[in-house]
This record gives sequence, C-alpha cells and structure tokens, in this order.
Amino acid sequence: MIQVQNLTKKFGEIVAVNDLSFSVKKGEILGFLGPNGAGKTTTMRILTCYTPATSGTATIAGYDIFNDSFEIKRILGYLPETPPLYLELTAREYLLYVAKLKGVPIAKHRSALDNVIQKCGLEKVIDRVLNNLSKGYRQRVGIAQALINSPQILILDEPTSGLDPKQIIEIRELIKSLAGEHTVILSTHILPEVTQTCQKIIIINEGSIVAEDSYEELIAKTNKTNKTRVMIKTADDNIINKIKEINGVQNVVREFSAERNVIIVESEMDCDVREELARMIVNSRCGLLELKHEVMSLEDVFLHLITKEEGTVN
Ligand SMILES: Nc1ncnc2c1ncn2[C@@H]1O[C@H](COP(=O)(O)OP(=O)(O)OP(=O)(O)O)[C@@H](O)[C@H]1O
Ligand SMILES: [Mg+2]
Repeated sequence: MIQVQNLTKKFGEIVAVNDLSFSVKKGEILGFLGPNGAGKTTTMRILTCYTPATSGTATIAGYDIFNDSFEIKRILGYLPETPPLYLELTAREYLLYVAKLKGVPIAKHRSALDNVIQKCGLEKVIDRVLNNLSKGYRQRVGIAQALINSPQILILDEPTSGLDPKQIIEIRELIKSLAGEHTVILSTHILPEVTQTCQKIIIINEGSIVAEDSYEELIAKTNKTNKTRVMIKTADDNIINKIKEINGVQNVVREFSAERNVIIVESEMDCDVREELARMIVNSRCGLLELKHEVMSLEDVFLHLITKEEGTVN
C-alpha cells in the first residue's frame, strides 16, 4: 500500500531523512518511533505531499508522491504535529468544511460527521469555537478531521500528544480498530504506544532506520542473553561466587543496598538457570524473596539501538 524507496530530505547541511526505504502492507499499522529530531515529521510531511523530498521515491496506493499529490491528498487522512484548525470556527463548522474540501458528497456529510463525533468523543464540544477548546480536545478535532473522509490511509503525527490518560487509551483503541480496513502510520515517542497498537515498528534515529521489525522480533534480536532478577534477604560474596559456578551463567551483577539485595543473573540465551538458581539459594539459606525472568522492554531496546548508533554503548 505504501512503498518508500531511498527517500532523502536535506535542509541545507542538515540531513533530516537519510536514504529511508520501507513498505507498509494494506491494513497494517506501522509505528514510527524515534527521539526528537529523528526525522519522523519530515518523513510524514513528504508522504503526505506537504514537503518535496530531495531524492528518492514513494508511492501511496499506487500514486506517486511527486506526480499525483492531488489524488494522494484525497485518499489520505493526515494529522500533522500541530492540527491545522481554523480557530474562529466551531468544531462542527470546521469538520464540515474539511469534509467539503476532501470531496465527501454532501449527502454523506451528516453521517460522516456523526461517525467522527462518536469515534473521537466530541459530543460535548461540537458546537464550541475551536479557540476556546482545551489542547486535548483540539487534538481530538485534529484526529476527527483526518478521519472524516474514511481514508484508506491514515498518517498520524503523535496522535495522543496532549491527551489525558483515559483519552489516550480510547484513541489507541480507535487506531487499533482501524487496522484491516485502513492502513496507518503513526509516530510517537511513547514507547508503550507502539507495543500496544502497531504490528510493525520502525525505529529511526538521525534520519536513518536503525530497526524494522515486529515488537517480538525486535526484543528477540536485541536480547542476546537471558536475564533473571533475584531478590534475597541476606547477601554476601559467597553467594555471588556460587551463582557464577552454575552451568550456563555468564555474568552476575549485584545491586546490593541497605534496603534490598538484588542480583541480576545473565545466562546463555537457550539456557534457563532459574530452577538451579532457586535450589542453590534456598539451600544456602539466603532467604529467597523473588525470582523473575527479566524481559527487555521496548524502552530498553530503543535505548540500546540508539546508544549503539551513537557509539557510546557496545
Ligand atoms: N523546515 C526545516 N528547516 C530546517 N530544518 C528542518 C526543517 N524541518 C525539520 N528540520 C530538521 O530536520 C530534522 C528532523 O526533524 P523532524 O521534525 O522530522 O523530527 P521528528 O522526528 O519529528 O522530531 P520530534 O520528535 O521532535 O517531533 C531536525 O534536525 C530538524 O531540525
Ligand atoms: Mg515530529
């Protein structure tokens, strides 16, 4: 549905997007993850035909971003970083205006409006002037304008920015419910957002892709060792040495403090040391309080990939 090939965007000396290639299948939700200045917004602006690329190509539903910008704008729903609201209009006036602009037939305006009011929870504010709405409600109106023409493809630049926790969950659910029928690209800094919403994750840093996978694949690729977190009541060097002797254990990190004694045991990927570890600690009478397999969060993966890129770790 979306094919991107060697896309590059330069602003003078700054390379905002550097030779980006990826594709998104029909009905897929792609999460675009990266730190500030990574090039997320720039890529989205290129794909929605608001900024021309310096080089490279991209097609959206078979349309070329350079030659068919008019068609692309009609089949796309785009939520820019700052929603493009006319602040002197009411939410209803504005959404009807966008519907007209996007070529929604007049006979369908009513149902299109009702649909986005319900989906984005706008019932209470629909007849209020946009200038008087809170940031979160303006964001909801921004999402509503992206959805008003039931677009095949949705490009959402930080869709949950400025929303309250309840609304964040609702918008995530809404985005998830769009999968299948709609193809979605969303950008975010919020790591759980992509784990909860997206089938595919692209992590970009300084304009380049550093990882492109499903969440599970990303975790699997980055996890080179098994980690087990152990909390014990009493700790000493003796127990650390004994743990080191367990078959398959590669490294032991101690995090002892006045309040708690935690040991992180790293072992070979295909070697589960938990049973032996538990037995040994119990036999040593150290008081086993907790033993847990540690799964790397997306946050860890993200930091790992980005710091690796910068050459500060590994
Ligand atoms: N119009 C512009 N002129 C000059 N430089 C720009 C312009 N737009 C973006 N940049 C630069 O391109 C780089 C990528 O910016 P972009 O806005 O795409 O990042 P982002 O990943 O969306 O970041 P954020 O998470 O902060 O929104 C940055 O270094 C930015 O300063
Ligand atoms: Mg941005």
